[in-house]
Amino acid sequence: MSRSTEPVSPVSLARLAPLLLAASLAFAAAPAAAQQGAVKAPAPRAAAAAPWQDIGRTATADEIAAWDIDVRADFKGLPPGSGSVLKGQEVWEAKCASCHGVFGESTEVFTPIVGGTTKEDIRTGRVANLMRSDYPQRTTMMKLSQISTLWDYINRAMPWNAPKSLTVEEVYAVTAYILNLADVVPEDYVLSDRNMAEVQQRLPNRNGKLMYQEMWKVAGKPDVQGVACMKDCPVEADVRSRLPEFARNAHGNLAEQNRVVGPFRGADTTRPPSTQPAALAAAATTAAAVTQVQVGRGTASRPPLEIAKDAACLACHSVERKLVGPSFREIAERYRGAADASNTLAQKVRKGGQGAWGAVPMPANPQLKEEDLRSLVKWILGGAS
Ligand code: HEC
Ligand code: HEC
Repeated sequence: MSRSTEPVSPVSLARLAPLLLAASLAFAAAPAAAQQGAVKAPAPRAAAAAPWQDIGRTATADEIAAWDIDVRADFKGLPPGSGSVLKGQEVWEAKCASCHGVFGESTEVFTPIVGGTTKEDIRTGRVANLMRSDYPQRTTMMKLSQISTLWDYINRAMPWNAPKSLTVEEVYAVTAYILNLADVVPEDYVLSDRNMAEVQQRLPNRNGKLMYQEMWKVAGKPDVQGVACMKDCPVEADVRSRLPEFARNAHGNLAEQNRVVGPFRGADTTRPPSTQPAALAAAATTAAAVTQVQVGRGTASRPPLEIAKDAACLACHSVERKLVGPSFREIAERYRGAADASNTLAQKVRKGGQGAWGAVPMPANPQLKEEDLRSLVKWILGGAS
C-alpha cells in the first residue's frame, strides 16, 4: 500500500486487518482513542460466527497514515520535499556518523554504506566488484538497486536508536549526502521527489538485480507443486533431501557469518552435524533447543570471557576500550562499591536499555542462561580480568 488520496478499498482494508488490530491496541491508551473505542457497533449478523469482531475499532485516517509510510519503486508514497547534500552532511555527522563512520565507511561493528562502486558502474548500472570473490565487503551502495529503498529505509528505521525521528527534509538531505559520497550526485545537488527518478538512472547497481527469481527449480520450473497436509499429517519428519557432507562448509563457517546481535547463530559448519537427522529435526522445532545448542552450551564454570564471546557481548564491548558500549573496565570503575550493582546490571543486561552511558541502546539478551548472566556481571564488576 502507499500514501495516496484515493479512498481505501475494502480489499486493502482486509489486508490491513492485522495492522489495524495492532494499531488499535497501541492507541487504546490515548483517552480520545478509548472514547472512540466505546462507540463501535458490533455487526449483528456475524456476531456468533466471529466473536472476536468485538475487539478494537475502526482505525482513524491519522492512524492509518502513521502506518502507511512505504515508498514504492515507482515512487508512489514519496512525500513532496527536498534536501541538499550540504544539509545532509550536517545530519549525517550529527546523527549517523557515530555508527556508520564520517564517510559511510562504518565503524568496527556496523556494515559500510559507501564504497566499492566506480564511475563505470554508474554508466553500466552493474557493480563490477560484486563479481569478484576476493572483494572484502559488500557495501549498501554496491547492492542497492532502487533509490526508493534507501529513502524508505532511512525514513522508517534510522537512526537506529531513534527511528522515525527525521523530518522529510532531513531524509532527502541525508540520502543526497550518501549519494554524493558514492559520486552519484554532485556536492551542490538538491534531491527531491521530482528528481528521484533521474537519480535512479545513475544508481551503480540499478541493473544488477532480478525482479523475480524462484527459490528452487525442479525440472526447470519453480518448485510450487507441493501439497500441504491439512489433517492426519505424519508426525515423524521424513527427510527426503539433505545437504551432502562435502557441501556443508561450502560457503565457509555459517556460525561466523551471522549477525552477532540476538539469540540465534548459524551452525558451526566446520564440524559434522552433532545429531542424526530425525533428532535434529525434533530439536529444531523449539527455538529454545537451538539456543541451547548454540549459546547455552556449558555452564557457569566456563571462563566468563568465553561466555561473553558466545553471547556476542564483544561485538559492542571490549575489556579495555570503549566500542559501541562502554569498556568493561569503565563499568567496573563506575559501580565500584555501589550497593546492589550486580542485581541492577544483571537486569539491565537481560532487558537492555539506554541512558546510563549515552543515547546508544543495548539490546536485550533473553537467550543468556541465568547462571551465565550472573557470572558475566560478577566478572565485569570485578574488573573483567
Ligand atoms: C546507533 C547506531 C546507528 C545510528 C546512529 C545510525 N545507524 Fe544506520 N544502521 C545501524 C544498524 C545496526 C544497521 C543495520 C540494521 C539491520 O540490519 O537491521 C543500520 C543500517 C543502515 C542502513 C542500511 C544498510 C544496509 O545495507 O542494509 C542505512 C542506509 C543506514 N543505516 C543509514 C543511516 C542513517 C542515514 C543514519 C542517520 C540518520 C543512521 N543510519 C544512523 C546503526 C545505526
Ligand atoms: C549491540 C551492542 C551491545 C551488545 C551486543 C551488548 N551491549 Fe552491553 N551495552 C551496550 C551499550 C550501548 C551500553 C550503554 C547503555 C546505556 O547507556 O545505558 C551497554 C551497557 C552495558 C553495561 C552497563 C549498564 C549500565 O547500566 O551501566 C553492562 C554491564 C553491559 N553492557 C554488559 C553487556 C553484556 C554482558 C553483554 C552480552 C550479554 C552486552 N552488554 C551486550 C551495547 C551492547
